[in-house]
Amino acid sequence: MKILEERIKKDGIVLPGDVLKVNSFLNHQIDPQLMMTLGQEFARLFKDDQVTRVLTAEASGIAPGIMAAYCLKVPMVFARKKKPSTVTDDVYTAEVYSYTKHVTNTISVEAKFLHKGDRVLVIDDFLANGEAAKGLISLAEQAGAEVVGVGVVVEKAFQGGHDWLLDHGYRLEALASVKSLKDGKVEF
Ligand code: G4P
Ligand code: NA
Ligand code: NA
Repeated sequence: MKILEERIKKDGIVLPGDVLKVNSFLNHQIDPQLMMTLGQEFARLFKDDQVTRVLTAEASGIAPGIMAAYCLKVPMVFARKKKPSTVTDDVYTAEVYSYTKHVTNTISVEAKFLHKGDRVLVIDDFLANGEAAKGLISLAEQAGAEVVGVGVVVEKAFQGGHDWLLDHGYRLEALASVKSLKDGKVEF
């Protein structure tokens, strides 16, 4: 998306370690008008897929996720990164290793919010190594739901997540696809 690429060029900051900082509109301060535009684009891309639920992860997936769900007129559920306090509830869990933070998080969703027969659209802010996407897909599939695709705001196509998703037969839509962050420059 042109408007997103322009915003990244204008406000994105490239940090060492191939990290693109976009916390002035996506990861800390959030631009709601831009998020709505992104949500409309996800909804357009997946309009023929009978999506019944959007699944994302807290925290940064929630903004694009809610806008996509709003435009598709379906509920959004976000996986939590903290263990649920009510252990009596039936939950699906998945382990997500973060290469950037060197920690493993257990993400979870209560079973009552993901169903067999659901057609799930997975949304996230960033696709890097794909660990978060894999975890979200696992949660949906544990429920017997079908993953109709993965939509991300920004993918770093040179890291492993992009290829993993395509190699495993998942549809991937990235609204901005970053080819390189070499020398502090963003190349799409
Ligand atoms: P992966 O899920 O694709 O494997 O990503 P990885 O472990 O490498 O990244 C861990 C966290 O860092 C994720 O957020 C991911 O979205 C984010 N991230 C990865 N690369 C970038 C980048 O270049 N720029 C920005 N801004 N974020 C990046 P998270 O831990 O789930 O955090 P949050 O949702 O609470 O923000
Ligand atoms: Na994220
Ligand atoms: Na993030």
